[in-house]
Amino acid sequence: MPDHTWVKLELDVKTFDASRFATYAERCREAGIRFTTLADLGDTAANRRAVYELNKECSADIPGRGAFYTFDEYLAQRIETPSFDPRGVVIAIDGDMWCGLSMSSDRRSEGFVFVEMTGVRRDYRGRGISLAMKTYGMGFAHLCRVNTIRTVHHPGNTTAIAMNRRLGYVDADWN
Ligand SMILES: CC(C)(COP(=O)(O)OP(=O)(O)OC[C@H]1O[C@@H](n2cnc3c(N)ncnc32)[C@H](O)[C@@H]1OP(=O)(O)O)[C@@H](O)C(=O)NCCC(=O)NCCS
Repeated sequence: MPDHTWVKLELDVKTFDASRFATYAERCREAGIRFTTLADLGDTAANRRAVYELNKECSADIPGRGAFYTFDEYLAQRIETPSFDPRGVVIAIDGDMWCGLSMSSDRRSEGFVFVEMTGVRRDYRGRGISLAMKTYGMGFAHLCRVNTIRTVHHPGNTTAIAMNRRLGYVDADWN
């Protein structure tokens, strides 16, 4: 049992106004950072490995995360699952360097999309990349035909919680 209460957050996609966040993507593009998905890049073995490496690197900064999955565990937990969809994996790319990712899974049978992980490499933080990635990825909820996006954070992850509140996520109380 964790010694804390998870912060459960939810966004109503119908109320999300992407135009409020357009400047973040514009600024990123001006700096040479582009956004795409794993589906568009190719859901290949090499790209799955790159997703893992980036996720692992960024997860080192999640409070209370502990040891990260091995690659095989990651495949089993996050990729070779019915809820995985490469269209839900947004990648931010600077040149040929992957500098951020936001991975959402398809939980439409439960009525929502779930953000499993959003991470930006340390050198790239504070430039609006996470806001731009999550705005870019909002269409995944439409693809899944749901209006709700959920995520959950350790209460010590104040940066990620602030980032999601900035987008309009509110406290939710699901079981
Ligand atoms: C959380 C994380 C993804 C944010 O990425 P980022 O690209 O640096 O965030 P952005 O620059 O888009 O900032 C988004 C908002 O987050 C908040 N924020 C960002 N950095 C912050 C900081 N150091 N302190 C407090 N709030 C902060 C602000 O509200 C900001 O919006 P604003 O610029 O309009 O004020 C990044 O810090 C990270 O990778 N952390 C490690 C992995 C992690 O904890 N992921 C979340 C768990 S899944």
